[in-house]
Amino acid sequence: MAKLPFFYDITLRDGNQSLKRPWNIDEKEEVFKLLMDLKIPAVEAGFPASSEMDFETCKRLAEIAPSNVTISGLARAVENDIIRAVEAISPAKKPRLHTFIAMSPFNMKYVLNKCPEEVQKTAIEAVKFAKSKLGKNADIEFSAEHFGDCAENIDFVIETFKKVVKAGATTINLPNTVERSRVKNFTDLVEKVYNALPKDINISVHCHNDLGMATAATVESYFKGAVQLETALNGLGERAGNTNFYEVAVALHNSGVDVPVDLSKIYETALIIEEMSKVKIYEKAPLIGPEALAHRSGIHQDGAVKTKDMEKGAYRPIHPSLIGRKDDEKLGITSQSGKTALYEIISRAGYPITIQEAERISPTIKEAAEKVGELPTRNLIDIYLKEVFDVKGPFHILKLDKVNENDYKLTFTHNEDRFEVEGKGNGPLDACLNALKQTGFEQKLVHYEQKAMDEELLGSGATAMTVIKFEAPNGKIIIARGQDESTANANVKAIFNGLNIIAKMQ
Ligand code: KIV
Ligand code: ZN
Repeated sequence: MAKLPFFYDITLRDGNQSLKRPWNIDEKEEVFKLLMDLKIPAVEAGFPASSEMDFETCKRLAEIAPSNVTISGLARAVENDIIRAVEAISPAKKPRLHTFIAMSPFNMKYVLNKCPEEVQKTAIEAVKFAKSKLGKNADIEFSAEHFGDCAENIDFVIETFKKVVKAGATTINLPNTVERSRVKNFTDLVEKVYNALPKDINISVHCHNDLGMATAATVESYFKGAVQLETALNGLGERAGNTNFYEVAVALHNSGVDVPVDLSKIYETALIIEEMSKVKIYEKAPLIGPEALAHRSGIHQDGAVKTKDMEKGAYRPIHPSLIGRKDDEKLGITSQSGKTALYEIISRAGYPITIQEAERISPTIKEAAEKVGELPTRNLIDIYLKEVFDVKGPFHILKLDKVNENDYKLTFTHNEDRFEVEGKGNGPLDACLNALKQTGFEQKLVHYEQKAMDEELLGSGATAMTVIKFEAPNGKIIIARGQDESTANANVKAIFNGLNIIAKMQ
């Protein structure tokens, strides 16, 4: 059975060194606490030789780290760096020294100006030196910087790994320091190393995201034998960043791997890191982007609404609650949106609506959205209120007067014509329908219902709502609503809204 993934966080080192304003000690401590809440088992706290502040921070985190958390300090393969790093990490219960040197032919030649044999010797000596400082049970990570560019000298690199393992390295880290080509080129190299080294050696990957494939490279490397995954919160890191922790953790979880971290803390952590780093989360960033759960096309909105309470969603990779996201899948209304989203947004806002009504008002809403792009919810609700409770059309009610117990006088216009007609009936609704019948505007009422309204929602003081259904001449059942302070007026308004809805259908 594959080993559980071991997350080694590099936010405080690779992430921090790429910030426009690197964090101070207190800020690093704050980030460290977030990492502890996420249950990250290993943290690269900094590069102690790089500055006094990094040294002090590493030391502070080493002092406060829980006993089961590995605290690592980075050091070039030079004695002074190693001495500084060892000093900084030594208060930790589980200190780790991480040393590195570039091993790609290109970097050895043009950057280090060293021949391979010299680089190999330096690597071995650095590990031996670290071991001499840390003692028998030393935890030492060795990285071949630019490992992703080592296809042509992979045999030499593997030979070096074997030698540094013999010298005391316990973790061999394989960085894709610059992501230049396809994921498979990298994972093939990872697999070669995994097959060549003793199985008790911790194989690690550290991928940069220059071509946007760091998550894929890291996830696939896990399946090739890399157990330690070096990742950063919000994908912070040099250039296009390091592998994003959230994406890797969720991708492994979705692939059936037991991921021993607290996924539910992801979203709140991401927002805090955004604030602290001043690196804005891209709108469409997977999982944590403000748009990552937004649907605007009618088809997607329909699928999203139909599966919204299910763990698997029609158009999302996870249930938002997995990462502690409480915002529902966002439904934005544009000219591309459909009736299901309208229905959902209006219902979520507390207003009464049926899917049929949403379908009826959809063209008006789309027309308004065409002019502005995404229609703000307030505008959407305003249109809804007009299109549902004040339907414009050829019919216009002027008044309904009670003549006596069962007689009402209805005054209304139909286009240019004015009508004043008395109708008998058992209450205003009945009388009004009878009056309309006499003027040739008979309607077949198939449903009637009175409901109390939330005054605040309508903002008009109305508390009574009438819901009626007419059977239109084409056999279609239409629904109409009326709202008013008085039940009688709500009834009549519903009738006239219904008349106008039917008139517009013809
Ligand atoms: O990207 C890289 O190669 C590094 C090493 C120091 C591990 O950050
Ligand atoms: Zn890096």
